[in-house]
Amino acid sequence: MIKAPEHISSIKPYVPGKPVEELERELGISESVKLASNENPMGPSPSAVKAIRNGLKTLHRYPDGNCYYLKDVLSKKLRVSSDQILFGNGSNEIIELAVRTFINPGDEAIMAHPSFVVYSMIVQAANGKSNLVPLRDWRHDLDAMASRITDRTRLIFIANPNNPTGTINTMDEMDRFVKKVPEGVLIVVDEAYSEYVDAPEYADSFTYLRASKEILILRTFSKIYGLAGLRIGYGVAQASIIQELNKVRQPFNVNSLAQAAAIEALRDDNHVKKVKQMNTRGKKFLYRELKNLGVTFVPSEANFIYVVVGENDAERVYNKMLKLGVIVRPMGPNSIRITVGLQGENKKLVHALGKAIT
Ligand SMILES: Cc1ncc(COP(=O)(O)O)c(C=O)c1O
Repeated sequence: MIKAPEHISSIKPYVPGKPVEELERELGISESVKLASNENPMGPSPSAVKAIRNGLKTLHRYPDGNCYYLKDVLSKKLRVSSDQILFGNGSNEIIELAVRTFINPGDEAIMAHPSFVVYSMIVQAANGKSNLVPLRDWRHDLDAMASRITDRTRLIFIANPNNPTGTINTMDEMDRFVKKVPEGVLIVVDEAYSEYVDAPEYADSFTYLRASKEILILRTFSKIYGLAGLRIGYGVAQASIIQELNKVRQPFNVNSLAQAAAIEALRDDNHVKKVKQMNTRGKKFLYRELKNLGVTFVPSEANFIYVVVGENDAERVYNKMLKLGVIVRPMGPNSIRITVGLQGENKKLVHALGKAIT
């Protein structure tokens, strides 16, 4: 029988958040809520939905492989040139393109732990080596990450805000870090949740792009723009880096509906503002209720909260909450990650968590 090489067969598959339909089918329940995948519970802008409907008329055509119109809108918004942008089938695809483009077997990538698990999985699939650096006070320890750079290091992943802790790194920390990274190492700053951030000290990664640093900034339409189901994200870097990534990219990687919806999503600042306000209100409510329950949590700059439930208790709490119709995400032995939902969903979550921890 055909066998995958060891570096592939030893990959632990990514476990996505359980879909609502699956839970309801398994337990015979209804009206359950999913607060496990950091989705936007309000959904996309109505004008994006309209663009999707219009796009149905031309589904028999291949999409624009260059995402010309979308690139045009985004480049003006970000004040970069079109050749500094690359779109992907979700920002996940851009992570994959970066690894496939720059990691040779045996090369290293540095990332924090815990952080977005996809980084190390993709590095492993390319037969690269992941160097995991523990968080410090729930945040990326950028000094420690810089000290791990070797002559085999090609990529450094920084999730800012970090998933699962929702914490950020500041401009001062990033300034110090960027100075320590030698030429030939690409800093990948994953900003999937950047639009939710309020903290004024949040690092502006575009400063380093303008200073011609080797940096790849990742963003997505899956979170604040509410288009997770369409799969579209983007990367911004120097044109020479984008050019290399484009060589590995499939020609029609972003479908036409996603492109049409993303254009309208970018234009609807008002919708983004509403989503952010709802998220801020939801977090405030959840912080208060979590305090009332007496559980430890990490204040978040994103649309989710990392909750410490107790020694080896995460699976038990997760399963108990499932039975009460609330899907969250267990994160290692002691913690769960909860996504901020609509007010009714947040209330249901607090009720279920209260029952599950007693
Ligand atoms: C930190 C981080 N990066 C990237 C992604 C992937 O997003 P996309 O849907 O654009 O592939 C996620 C999704 O949860 C994430 O949490």
